[in-house]
Amino acid sequence: MNSAAAEAKRLRRQMADDPHRPRYHFTPPANWMNDPNGIIKWDGKYHLFYQHNPYDAVWDNMHWGHAVSSDLLHWTDLPVALSPTADGPDEDGCWSGCAVDDNGVPTILYTAVRGDWTLPQNQRVCLATGNADLTSWEKYAGNAIIAHPPDGLHVAGFRDPFVWREEDCWYMAIGAGIQDVGGAALLYRSRDLYRWEYLHPMCVGDKHDETGLWTGSVWEVPQLHCLGDKHVLLATVWDNDPLYSVYFTGSYRNRRFIPETVQKLDFGDRHYYAAHAILDSQDRHIMWGFIGEGRSTEAQQAAGWSGAMALPRELALRDDGKLAIRPVQETEMLRGEHQRLTKMELTTASGDMRIDLPGDALEIAAEIDPADAEECGIKVCCSPDGQEETIVFYDRARKRLGVDRRRSTLVQHGGVSPGLQEGAFELAPGERLRLRVFVDCSVIEVFANDYACLTSRVYPSRSDSTGVRVYSRGATRINSLDIWRLSSIWASA
Ligand code: FRU
Repeated sequence: MNSAAAEAKRLRRQMADDPHRPRYHFTPPANWMNDPNGIIKWDGKYHLFYQHNPYDAVWDNMHWGHAVSSDLLHWTDLPVALSPTADGPDEDGCWSGCAVDDNGVPTILYTAVRGDWTLPQNQRVCLATGNADLTSWEKYAGNAIIAHPPDGLHVAGFRDPFVWREEDCWYMAIGAGIQDVGGAALLYRSRDLYRWEYLHPMCVGDKHDETGLWTGSVWEVPQLHCLGDKHVLLATVWDNDPLYSVYFTGSYRNRRFIPETVQKLDFGDRHYYAAHAILDSQDRHIMWGFIGEGRSTEAQQAAGWSGAMALPRELALRDDGKLAIRPVQETEMLRGEHQRLTKMELTTASGDMRIDLPGDALEIAAEIDPADAEECGIKVCCSPDGQEETIVFYDRARKRLGVDRRRSTLVQHGGVSPGLQEGAFELAPGERLRLRVFVDCSVIEVFANDYACLTSRVYPSRSDSTGVRVYSRGATRINSLDIWRLSSIWASA
């Protein structure tokens, strides 16, 4: 085992008893993590890079952490891939970017920050090339390869290169905002990945338009993907603060992306951030997102770690133009002890029905006919006396899917965001609610009918807050409910 892996294992073992540290969601070995970066399948293995501060559980001094997996779930830590170089263009941080295969040469393009990061002119694009197993990276001597934002354009942000190949050229979208206009993805072209020519904004939002989903003043980590007969632009909306990840569906013509629809990728907002997708060798679009904490900086530092990666999600295009989003099939490998219940009738009067397989690492899959109920759902992380509980609900009357965290914890862990999270969700007449709920200590991921997602964080204070219940206001029929205990992804834990 390499020494980085051994040290990471030691750190992971040291924190293995932390009741809030996820068991099957990827976390950094210790300290801070944010965006997924440069994910690439190389030599049959998935390489996950991520924004990482190896020295503290706070966002600062960005490096690229690195881990490898053969199955998308079980990861082995590798040495940090990129660190800031004193006096270099990235001396104040190696920020987000992507990885490509340049004719057999693994190549990272990333955001380099030097000086006050809030100024777009201090954000540049740098390049590094890797060795055969991607464990060591050499920065290009001629960095930065893009030294400043395009002349004459007043940008509010200039970061997060995303590169793809079309015919005999490389193209790059960079996250930006155009002053007083809105978020933007700027388009560049190159023949060799090293010399880039600015073309034009590939897509620009309108920050003055608040009639639909607001897309803010800067787009971070833009990514263009072709799904079915549409193109999909992923972007993360930033406006002095991280807000949420969105996807636009539309068309890509004459090197411009023309959006037709825009949706949130996840109703968890900043708990599902900086979405990053790849096309894997089985032609699957697989997407990762960063799950930020919901508690204070002090609580994060006391824990010694911060941030988790959402389960890999497979994307497809539905007939109605929305994205189908579901956890990759590989997640089923985590399933252990199982119970299946069928045909249960619930009413307001029957009260909550307890499911007899408690746990802090669970998957629950239910098919529910909400009939005429006002609201129904699944409660997780419940203490036996019901004092602590987190409610995953479908509010049929208000047409909302949500997570109610108002009673998730009896103890405020310094700044826990305890509120309601929800988004618009409506079943067609006769359509069943198909809920999949993943509980992993402090992480909750909810998938409804393979397209609506909600990622949340909860920090129950009691060690017995592991119960699961189903409930209904009005009459609901649960056609089936499967529940599994899920295993840890870390051999050492
Ligand atoms: C998104 C982001 C990126 C940036 C990175 C810095 O979360 O702000 O725009 O490159 O994180 O860590």
